[in-house]
Amino acid sequence: MHEAVLLAETIESLNIRPAGVYVDCTYGRGGHTQELLKRLGSDGRLLAIDRDPDAIESGRRLLNDRRLELVHARFSKVGQLLEARQLREQADGILMDLGVSSPQLDDADRGFSFRGVGPLDMRMDPTTGPTAGEWLATVSEKELRECLWELGEERYARRIARKIVTARVSDPITTTVQLATLITQAVPGGKSKIHPATRTFQALRLRINSELEELSAGLVHASENLRVGGRVVVLAFHSLEDRIVKRYFRNLCRPTDPFDADMAGPRFSLLMKKPLRPSEVELKRNPRARSARLRVLERVA
Ligand SMILES: C[S@@+](CC[C@H](N)C(=O)[O-])C[C@H]1O[C@@H](n2cnc3c(N)ncnc32)[C@H](O)[C@@H]1O
Repeated sequence: MHEAVLLAETIESLNIRPAGVYVDCTYGRGGHTQELLKRLGSDGRLLAIDRDPDAIESGRRLLNDRRLELVHARFSKVGQLLEARQLREQADGILMDLGVSSPQLDDADRGFSFRGVGPLDMRMDPTTGPTAGEWLATVSEKELRECLWELGEERYARRIARKIVTARVSDPITTTVQLATLITQAVPGGKSKIHPATRTFQALRLRINSELEELSAGLVHASENLRVGGRVVVLAFHSLEDRIVKRYFRNLCRPTDPFDADMAGPRFSLLMKKPLRPSEVELKRNPRARSARLRVLERVA
């Protein structure tokens, strides 16, 4: 089961109109989609997207609702998907609940976690692209170091990259636990609360799935496809993602060029200056919510 984070706040932020058009860009196991459907009237419409075929498959088994269309796609394609349905600039709400779902993390065969032995895969969409293991087998030491430093904010990036490229010569790195063990050997033992492999796994996941690039493209297409009064709601779990959302939303809300007579003020506004965070009660029940940040953009003109 995937327990949706900030569920009530997210649904409230979407300000659902019963006859509106909504997009859930990250179906997962449908926690948000099901809440949306409860609030939509018979004329409402919901497009739910996920790049993981397992998520879409589980949705098709669970939900049979003529207002809902489930699509296996990346959310960077949301503009094309809406256009193909004659819904350009018609969206009342577009939701992105970023990151991986619990079923993805918990299934050792998907290779996202070092808690169980699994192949070093990490693709959200296993039908395309290289696995983390394939990427690690050929990446240069420099590129690996930069990836760990930039996407994992890993202070021992240099040592870990060195260890990996040295170790792979004699023994290909093919499993999650094998990689986690190498990382543990590469870094000095300390009192850190997090496992030494956490940041490397995070960096590899972001890299293998081009998550930051997906987010940047998804935000552009989402904001360009809102109707006036429509909202983009983003739930981020990672500071790098949240920074992209914050900056993009802020830029869109800047006053437009005062010397341009055709421009009449910003087309977008922020619903709240500071992001919403989970309450203590939610954190007790679901520690995964710890780093969640919810931001909301509205098209006002
Ligand atoms: C945190 S889970 C969403 C959980 C969902 N809101 C729920 O309540 O069950 C994130 C989901 O988004 C999907 N995902 C992540 N990046 C994506 C992208 N760029 N395009 C489409 N789906 C994506 C993942 O495969 C995963 O299933």
